[in-house]
Amino acid sequence: MSTSKKVFVKTYGCQMNVYDSERMVEALGSNGYEQTATPEEADMILLNTCHIREKAAEKVYSELGRFKELKVEKPNLKIGVAGCVAQAEGEEIMRRQPLVDLVVGPQSYHRLPELESKLENGGKSIETDFPEEDKFTVLKNRPTGKRAPSAFLTVQEGCDKFCAFCVVPYTRGAEVSRPAEQILSEARNLVERGVREITLLGQNVNAYHGVGITGKEWTLARLIWELNYIDGLHRIRFTTSHPNDMADDLIEAHASCTKLMPYLHLPVQSGSNKILKRMNRSHTAESYLKLIEKIRAARPDILLSGDFIVGFPEETEEDFEDTINLIKEVKYGQAFSFKYSTRPGTPAAERAQIPESLKTERLHRLQDLIAAQQREIQDQMVGRTVRVLFEKKGRFAGQMVGKSEYLHAVHVTSENVAIGSLESVRITKSKSNSLTGELI
Ligand code: 5AD
Ligand code: SF4
Repeated sequence: MSTSKKVFVKTYGCQMNVYDSERMVEALGSNGYEQTATPEEADMILLNTCHIREKAAEKVYSELGRFKELKVEKPNLKIGVAGCVAQAEGEEIMRRQPLVDLVVGPQSYHRLPELESKLENGGKSIETDFPEEDKFTVLKNRPTGKRAPSAFLTVQEGCDKFCAFCVVPYTRGAEVSRPAEQILSEARNLVERGVREITLLGQNVNAYHGVGITGKEWTLARLIWELNYIDGLHRIRFTTSHPNDMADDLIEAHASCTKLMPYLHLPVQSGSNKILKRMNRSHTAESYLKLIEKIRAARPDILLSGDFIVGFPEETEEDFEDTINLIKEVKYGQAFSFKYSTRPGTPAAERAQIPESLKTERLHRLQDLIAAQQREIQDQMVGRTVRVLFEKKGRFAGQMVGKSEYLHAVHVTSENVAIGSLESVRITKSKSNSLTGELI
């Protein structure tokens, strides 16, 4: 086996893509590839793409165009497209951009070594079928080298909810949960390699229903409790959740599982019942607010985060006001908001669209409100003591950066903090996007 080949991976989109990219590099390891951070040095460039909104795919095509010169200089350079754009566009990518050699969907990247082998002598490879075998069973061995203190771990993938705006059920496929044993052994491997915080990932992570080690089905809460027993693992998080799958045992875990962090990303998308219905969300604004109340009763200091879409077809000023009012009621510490964009093949794409200028105007209003809430909640941390997991050095000499329980970035100046350590920090200042504090 040759060991001198290098792969450069660029990741777009969600955290699951970050996880997938890591696994793709590992898979290519069996063909002698190592990761590089410099595209000029690479024998293969792999774009791990996102299809969730319009501009994401366009960005991929323009990025691909930029590799033209590199490919002229290095005719043996292989260019691959992975992820959800690969899944959705398939062969179209090679048609639109002939310099692409390889296209692989998110459920078939365990076949990368085989696909890469076919690229010799100008061959092309494409794999976007949903395969019979499970990629994680094929890629069961993870490396042993040291790694950063915070890691992602996919536990569930795909979605059966079919929100009218969303491509995920088409690109990632049906909802599938990984067996608990597989997840636990991966978690143990990560902890042995220096990981102190694991974020469990899934498009519908709280719908997790994998086979437990006893053979019975486990819920996400049950899985979290088992992870709670792993020595050396300090923190557990999970994302992204659907309100309808926020089961009582999971809410209870937020009250009593000490390693489960007080942060919850619970997208509602809209505060208007009419729009929620048109979105096929199968919950109402009221049921969401009730749920938030229940979660806050279990864990009063929990920091809430959400996703919002503005300008969904038929959204009136009144509907938008409903969203604003819901945000005012919940008070988010963090949120992601988007203008609705039509996705081919989804039901809402066929409907009459709202003018772009109106979407932009609503997005600004919503983001101003969220920014103010975020700032207020962050400012309230001043004077409080939080626990910080230190992840890396800061930009200035002697500065270290980590995350609080609430996922706020915290800067501390100290010579005595190691990466991966968990320390008590008193917050002294709130800046635009981070907090500053002192070790206690
Ligand atoms: N347009 C705009 N935003 C979208 N999202 C998903 N699909 C679309 C779309 N077509 C947003 C939702 C989701 C997040 C991941 O992306 O808010 O929760
Ligand atoms: Fe998309 Fe809705 Fe499924 Fe989330 S729950 S992945 S928004 S279809």
